[in-house]
Amino acid sequence: MKIGVFCSGGDAPGMNACVRSVVRTAAAHGHEVVGIMRGYHGMIHEEFFMDSDGQHHLTPYRVTTWAAHGGAHLRSSRSEEFRTEQGQRTAADILRKHHIDALIPIGGDGTFNGATALSKHWDGQIVGCPGTIDNDLMGTDYTIGFSTAVQTAVEAVDKIRDTASSHDRMFLVEVMGRHSGYIALYTAIAAGADVVAIPETDTNFTEIISHLNRLKEQGRTMAIMVIAEGDEKGGAELINAQLKQHDCPFQTRTIVLGHLQRGGSPTPEDRRRATQMGNGAVKAILAGETGVMIGTRDDRCVSIPFAETYASHRPVSLDLLNVLNEIAS
Ligand code: F6P
Repeated sequence: MKIGVFCSGGDAPGMNACVRSVVRTAAAHGHEVVGIMRGYHGMIHEEFFMDSDGQHHLTPYRVTTWAAHGGAHLRSSRSEEFRTEQGQRTAADILRKHHIDALIPIGGDGTFNGATALSKHWDGQIVGCPGTIDNDLMGTDYTIGFSTAVQTAVEAVDKIRDTASSHDRMFLVEVMGRHSGYIALYTAIAAGADVVAIPETDTNFTEIISHLNRLKEQGRTMAIMVIAEGDEKGGAELINAQLKQHDCPFQTRTIVLGHLQRGGSPTPEDRRRATQMGNGAVKAILAGETGVMIGTRDDRCVSIPFAETYASHRPVSLDLLNVLNEIAS
């Protein structure tokens, strides 16, 4: 069997570990893997991973150190062309031309939406792995890249706290998460922030200001607020403007961590999860499955139909928000 693997959407630390696992699991069962470059864009434009010897297939030896590497060696993209029916038909033709029997896309909701569209024009098997730092895919309790993103954000907040306290300031730190407060809330708890703003709850300025006033009365000279970029009241800049209008008791500064959170060597957790999911995806293909993403629940691989993964976004637990609120009061 010939399996095509590719990364799609926003890159996530651990994608390379997942590819490595796919390659090695397939090889262990006697199957060949080819890497498709730049996701659906590369599929349409016939871009395959090629080694210096001109070989297209990914060998177990070639991916030896990939578990430790950040970024995506197969590159990634968000393809506008693939959104069109013509783009999907072309991609299907390329897959047939190269005799690919099955695909393993590593990505988020847009990736699996794309996989569903592709399956209308191509009858090979498609089994995905969840790769997004946002951790917001339905059906799985984890997505590859989340742990590293939180690690990076926490390290950044630890540093910001130093300058915040030197200058008696409040910092508003914006982290990624278009639809989800996962990165924001986990970072806020781990970094000991005072306030968090996430899309899952209403950000109430009156409550935030009274909380900050209480901290000030207790003698606090600095504060940290973590904001998910997708908060309904806006990112760090907009929230800062509104805090000022509500007489924020601290002098404020803002920082947007942005794509910093998508880089770096994956944490052991991301490497382990990516390896488990890549292994699970190949086994699911060998078992005849298709149209599913391999996620995990309680450390076991589970298959989730693509349609479920992008029907909505997995919200962060509000129990955790209560923990933060109690600890920070
Ligand atoms: O979906 C992952 C993610 O990192 C989001 O958190 C963020 O909003 C988005 O990708 C940014 O995408 P781009 O790299 O295309 O700007």
